[in-house]
Order: sequence, then structure tokens, then C-alpha cells
Amino acid sequence: MSGNGGGLMLKVENLHAEIDGQEILKGVDLEVNLGEIHAIMGPNGSGKSTLANVMMGHPRYEVTEGSITFDGEDVLEMEPDERARAGMFLAFQYPSEIPGVSVANFLRTAVNSVREQELNPMEMYKLLQEKMKIMKMDPSFAERYLNEGFSGGEKKRNEILQLLMLDPKLAILDETDSGLDIDALQVVARGVNEMRGPEFSAVLITHYQRILRYIEPDRVHVMLDGRIVTSGGKKLAEELEDKGYDWVRQEFGAGTQS
Ligand SMILES: Nc1ncnc2c1ncn2[C@@H]1O[C@H](COP(=O)(O)OP(=O)(O)OP(=O)(O)O)[C@@H](O)[C@H]1O
Ligand SMILES: [Mg+2]
Repeated sequence: MSGNGGGLMLKVENLHAEIDGQEILKGVDLEVNLGEIHAIMGPNGSGKSTLANVMMGHPRYEVTEGSITFDGEDVLEMEPDERARAGMFLAFQYPSEIPGVSVANFLRTAVNSVREQELNPMEMYKLLQEKMKIMKMDPSFAERYLNEGFSGGEKKRNEILQLLMLDPKLAILDETDSGLDIDALQVVARGVNEMRGPEFSAVLITHYQRILRYIEPDRVHVMLDGRIVTSGGKKLAEELEDKGYDWVRQEFGAGTQS
């Protein structure tokens, strides 16, 4: 730990990344201080999920230029599991079902993998009970097999339970393709607001301003064509809702506005 309390937690500089030879990120700059919650908005295909995937170390993307620094460390030099141990929360892209692995088992493995010292079974049990209570989850949920027959809302709850259990310094949450109904939305909001504090930062990726009614961002960024083209306070999210992404394209789009 570098102990830079309140200081710069995440710095993305001139990040370029491609997939299958196609450049998607074209120079992303982003700075997030410890204790801050940032929202990234932007139209379909602008590169938001790509940015999240690259930060998580997804093997399909190739970074061709630029840097990502987390808590003073060069993220691009770290394997995904090292990123998690350093305090980045990467909602695990686990398969839709893992037969024979219960929620409790999965969380135990995940929690112990990011801690220097493993929790004993009693500590683990207590922690799980405490966090499930916050998420208003029935204790029996912990015994279910991971994602087997989970509803969309239950999957989302489970993901946020994982966030609370892992207690990261930075969470990257990509909420675009989760078919967020109002229930799932509030689950995410409850979890993030629970974590909110001087030792936690988050990058929340979203399409709509909706979720930002429940989670008040310190800063809002708009992504367009592989870059963050404008940033502002939470008013920017409202402005976007009013004016739409065509306005963004006109104001900030490169060249033509076809
Ligand atoms: N394998 C690939 N080959 C070529 N282009 C790809 C590939 N995978 C993704 N892309 C493109 O990368 C661009 C950015 O996609 P990304 O998923 O990051 O967008 P997004 O901002 O998250 O969009 P959404 O709001 O719909 O979730 C899209 O144009 C997409 O078609
Ligand atoms: Mg996406």
C-alpha cells in the first residue's frame, strides 16, 4: 500500500487498445482520486466496455499505446489476479453456471485470493452474514449453486455481494448490458453507496442517467469514438439526458457528423 490517502488512485493516460487488429480505444485519459465515484457515459459502441475490459486485463485486447497506473503501480504489467490483489475490483466474468460450487464457496475463494491472510471459517461466515444482510439477501442464498437458475436480479445481487465481500479500493462496474430493471438498479446503488467513503473509488459505466439518480457521481465523463471527449459534474449527466448523444457528436465528434 502506498498510503496516498485521498490522492490519485487511477490514472489512464493516452490509452490506445485494439481487438483483432481494430483500434477501439484511441487515446483515453482518465483520473480518479481515492474516495471519488466517476460515471462514464456514451453511446453504443463508443468503447466503454472495452475500457473496462482493458483495465481488467482481458486477454483479447492489445494495448498499443499509453498507460494505466493504479495506486502508483503499472497495471499493464500486472496479471488480472494481481490487479485484484492490488485492490481493483473486477466483477469476475465467470461462466453463467458453475455446477457444484455454492455462492459461499465461490466468495470464500475470491475473498481469500485477494487477502494476504486468509479468513478462518468463522470470520468468513460472519462477514458473509453481515454483507448479505446489507443486501437484504436470504441466508439460504449462500448455499445455492453459483448462478444456477439465478434471475437477473439475483445475479446482480450476487455480483454486488462480491463487491462488498472483497472491499476493493477501486471498483469498475459496467452496467450497460445487464438489462437493468429498477430492482437491479437499486441493488447496485445500495452496494455502491454502502461502499462509498474515503477509502473507496468507483468507475461506473452506464448508458442512461437513470442509475445516477441513486448514485451521485463526483464526476461524469462522456466517451465517444474511443476517447473521453468531455467531463463535468453530475449536471453533465442531466444535460446529456436532455440533449442526447447527437448533441455530443455535434459538439465533440471528430470531423463529419454522418
Ligand atoms: N472483435 C471485434 N472486432 C472488431 N470490433 C469489435 C470487436 N469487439 C468489439 N468491437 C467494436 O468495438 C467497439 C466498442 O465496443 P464496446 O463494447 O466497448 O462499446 P460500448 O461503449 O461498451 O457499447 P454499449 O454501450 O453498447 O455497451 C464497437 O464498435 C464494437 O463493434
Ligand atoms: Mg458496453
